[in-house]
Amino acid sequence: MISSDKLKKLYLEFFQRKGHKIIANASLIPENDPTALFISAGMHPLVPYLLGQPHTSGKKLVNVQKCFRTTDIDEVGDSFHLSFFEMLGNWSLGEYFKEKSIQWSYEFLTSKKWLNIDEKRLYITVFAGDEKIPRDTESARIWKELGIPKEKIFYLPKEDNFWGPIGSIGPCGPDTEIFYDTGKEPCGSECHPGCPCGKFNEIWNNVFMEYNRTQDGEYELLKQKNVDTGMGVERTVAVLQGKDTVYETEIFTPLIKRIKNLADIETISKEQIKSVRVIVDHSRAATFLLAEGIAPRNVEQGYVLRRIIRGAIRHGKLIGIEEEFLSVLSLIIIETYSGEYPHLKSNEDFIVTELKNEYKKFNNTLARGLNRFNRIARKKNKIDSKDAFLLYQSFGFPIEITKELGLENGIFVDVDGFHEEFQKHQKVSRISAEKKFGSGLADHSIETVKLHTATHLLNEALRRVLRKEIIQKGSNITQERLRFDFNFDRKLTEQELQDIEEIVNSQIRKALPVKRIDTTLDEAVKMGSQAVFDQKYGEQVSVYTIGDFSLEICSGPHVNNTGELGRFRIIKEEGISAGVRRIRAVLDS
Ligand code: ALA
Repeated sequence: MISSDKLKKLYLEFFQRKGHKIIANASLIPENDPTALFISAGMHPLVPYLLGQPHTSGKKLVNVQKCFRTTDIDEVGDSFHLSFFEMLGNWSLGEYFKEKSIQWSYEFLTSKKWLNIDEKRLYITVFAGDEKIPRDTESARIWKELGIPKEKIFYLPKEDNFWGPIGSIGPCGPDTEIFYDTGKEPCGSECHPGCPCGKFNEIWNNVFMEYNRTQDGEYELLKQKNVDTGMGVERTVAVLQGKDTVYETEIFTPLIKRIKNLADIETISKEQIKSVRVIVDHSRAATFLLAEGIAPRNVEQGYVLRRIIRGAIRHGKLIGIEEEFLSVLSLIIIETYSGEYPHLKSNEDFIVTELKNEYKKFNNTLARGLNRFNRIARKKNKIDSKDAFLLYQSFGFPIEITKELGLENGIFVDVDGFHEEFQKHQKVSRISAEKKFGSGLADHSIETVKLHTATHLLNEALRRVLRKEIIQKGSNITQERLRFDFNFDRKLTEQELQDIEEIVNSQIRKALPVKRIDTTLDEAVKMGSQAVFDQKYGEQVSVYTIGDFSLEICSGPHVNNTGELGRFRIIKEEGISAGVRRIRAVLDS
């Protein structure tokens, strides 16, 4: 039986043998991309390279990438949808295209040496074409040449067989998707791959990224024809193990066992299934998000985290778990994954503390909030915008929880009205965060690039003023400001803040050259480069030097000379969690 570890190993080995280089499993939080909250696909960190920037590891890449998607979050609880998952991907940056991509997928899936799937089980979909982009007869031909009968190849429209861009602009293209026939009865005469009934499970998506979607919604050909593929680890393992759901695989069984134990249930009833699955999914996602240094808050990533933690807590109550349980589950998750993700272990205290704190906060108001919900629902038979806002503000109910309660009770919840109400009350609107869900393109505007270089200067200045053990715990850059999190356990003094600003500004005045060196990870470490050591890097990395002031592993981009930056000014310094401080700073022109 193929376990998830085995699948990952086989996949990386197969593509390495085909000349691919393993690249890093990037952070869940996009670097320098103000338009997206999370990395939602393996190609997301590769956007600059799909657009033509040379990659240090060459043109054929492979990896396992952790992903987080909020787009399918309402589906979590069914058999296959997850918010957090691992994705296997192989890429060609202008090297091989449809022929090799499809042949290799077929070989990996069906060869006795690899996954040994019976080819009779495979069904294929390809892009049917529309007024802008032609029908993909070439992929269909390649599949037929490999022996897939014509009747098993389906032409589907754009909603099914076209992938990307992330956000509204960027690399995208038609795709061919590979489905596994479970052998179940079709749900009707129209049942086909892509039908959600569960007969056909999608296991691999090969995207032929030869287009760039522009601002005005047109598709122009990219400089290079790329391949971007994605295979979900959890669902493929489920398929390979002949399971009906991802929850029956060894990835989740220890968690489910513990949940049953905590809830004191022998067999999970039909009514309890969804709650158990939501807890499994959300506890894993929350653990990985916390490991990135994100804490539950009311905006951006922190809001999403809060929402999933609180959602899991509510489902815990539904199945009768009364005590705090997410920290207990997080320890199992950390144990399971820390071999591959050492940053889980090194952030264990933070993860456990934050989960316990969030439980305390929400547990105080949850029962009263539920009472209030029931009372309003009985009286008005709906939850209007003001009620939803009251539940949010006074009882800490994220709108998604109120919406879910509405669905469970058959009560209308005015979600749009809530957002309007919310905007009236808040300067920082969560709606702006909502817009970023699953969207975004690496932002290479000059403002962002300048702030990125300033971040490197700040990182080094902190080490010189505070202590040399300072390391980056998180970074987020928009066109307006940089935000940098680091390990330090007290408030910075006025003098320290001034000293940091002065060091950064003196490096800007010196007009230092910024250079990129492509080298191996070992070499970069030997050179004394700063790195986010919690992250895994590929074997090949780029290092950016700023004069002889700073040396940091980073994929860029940066300005050429610090003289371009303007004046650096810290606008806020605060603690965001135990032992982690956050600085926000701007560049004045
Ligand atoms: N980027 C493609 C996906 O996520 C492969 O399905």
